[in-house]
Amino acid sequence: QTASSLRPVCEPLTSRGDEEYADLNWDDLGYGLVPTDYMYIMKSSENEKFSVGELNRFGNIELSPAAGVLNYAQGLFEGLKAYRKEDGRLLLFRPEQNAMRMRMGAERMCMISPSVEQFVDAVKQTVLANKRWVPPPGKGSLYLRPLLIGSGAMLGLAPASEYTFIIYASPVGTYFKEGLAPINLFVEDEFHRATDGGAGGVKSISNYAPVLKAQGQAKSKGFTDVLFLDSKTKKHLEEVSSCNIFILKGKTISTPATGGTILPGVTRKSIIDLARDCGYQVEERLIPVEELMEADEVFCTGTAVVVAPVGSITYQGKRVEFRTGVGSVSQELYSTLTGIQMGVIEDKMGWTVEI
Ligand code: COI
Repeated sequence: QTASSLRPVCEPLTSRGDEEYADLNWDDLGYGLVPTDYMYIMKSSENEKFSVGELNRFGNIELSPAAGVLNYAQGLFEGLKAYRKEDGRLLLFRPEQNAMRMRMGAERMCMISPSVEQFVDAVKQTVLANKRWVPPPGKGSLYLRPLLIGSGAMLGLAPASEYTFIIYASPVGTYFKEGLAPINLFVEDEFHRATDGGAGGVKSISNYAPVLKAQGQAKSKGFTDVLFLDSKTKKHLEEVSSCNIFILKGKTISTPATGGTILPGVTRKSIIDLARDCGYQVEERLIPVEELMEADEVFCTGTAVVVAPVGSITYQGKRVEFRTGVGSVSQELYSTLTGIQMGVIEDKMGWTVEI
C-alpha cells in the first residue's frame, strides 16, 4: 500500500480528519501522550517475514498474557519525528536510520523485523493518517513511536513465534520540563544502564525500566536526570537515561564510543557529522568522568531531547557549571540540526525525507 492509496481500515475519514489542524493548544506541548487518530499494525506470520500492515484507529491492543514481550521483554522501540514546513509539506528525518537500527536490535533479540522499506512506508502512512496532529511550524513535531514486540504466546524461554510491528504517534514539544533551558545532571555511580555483552547498544525495551530507580532518586533531589558510568570501572561516561552525552573542550567535541553499551543514536550520529562540518574535531572514545568535570560545555542529544545544553553536573558531592546559551557550541549545533529538520536550512546531507 502506498501512502497516496492510504485508507483507514476501521472507519472512513471523518470531517474532523480532513481538518488542517486538530483541536489542541499548540503553544503548550510537552512530552505527554496526546492520543492521535490512527496507528499502524503489521504482524509476522508464524516464524515468517512481515507482509502487509494496515492502519487502525488508535486504541488498545490485544495480547496473550503469555506473549514473549510481556514475559521475557522481547521488544524494541524506535523514536523519530515529522515536522511541518511553512509551505505545509511534511518532513521526516533519516527514517531509514531508525529502520536499520531496529533491524540490528531484532538480530540481537532474536526477533523478526520489518524491512527498511516496510518500516519507512509504515512511518509515512502513520504520519499522513495523523496529519492534523503535526504541529504548526516552529511549535513542535509529531513523534512517531515504532514498536516491535514478540506477540506470540509461549511459556518456556524462547523467541516468540509471532511478532507485531506497531507505530503510534503523538504531537510533542520539548522533552525536559526545563524546556530549552539548561538541564542539571547527577552522575550515578551505583546503578548502571548497561553492561558489556548486554543489550545496551540496541533499543531494547529492557534498557529503560532499570534506569527509573536512579532517575527517580535524582529527580527527588531536584536534578533533571542521571548520567550513567560504565559498570566495570565506574570511571567512564556512558549515557543519560534517554539520550547520548557530548563534552566540548576547546575545539574538540568528544562522546563515548559505541562499543555495545552505548545506544547508537541517530541524533548522535548527525551531530557528529554536523560538528565536523562546522570545523570541530570530534572524537568517539572512552571519556573519564574527570574530563567531564573540566569541560567547557556539555550537552545531550537524542530524538526526543534534540540537543539539550547541560548547565551543571554533580558528581560525588561536587557540582560544576558549564557555558550555555547565546554563542555556545550546543546552541549552534541545535540551531543547525533543527533548521535542517524543519526545512529552513538547506539539507546538504540529504537527510530529510518529504512525505
Ligand atoms: C527518543 O529519543 O526517541 C527515545 O527513544 C528516548 C525515550 C526515552 C523518550
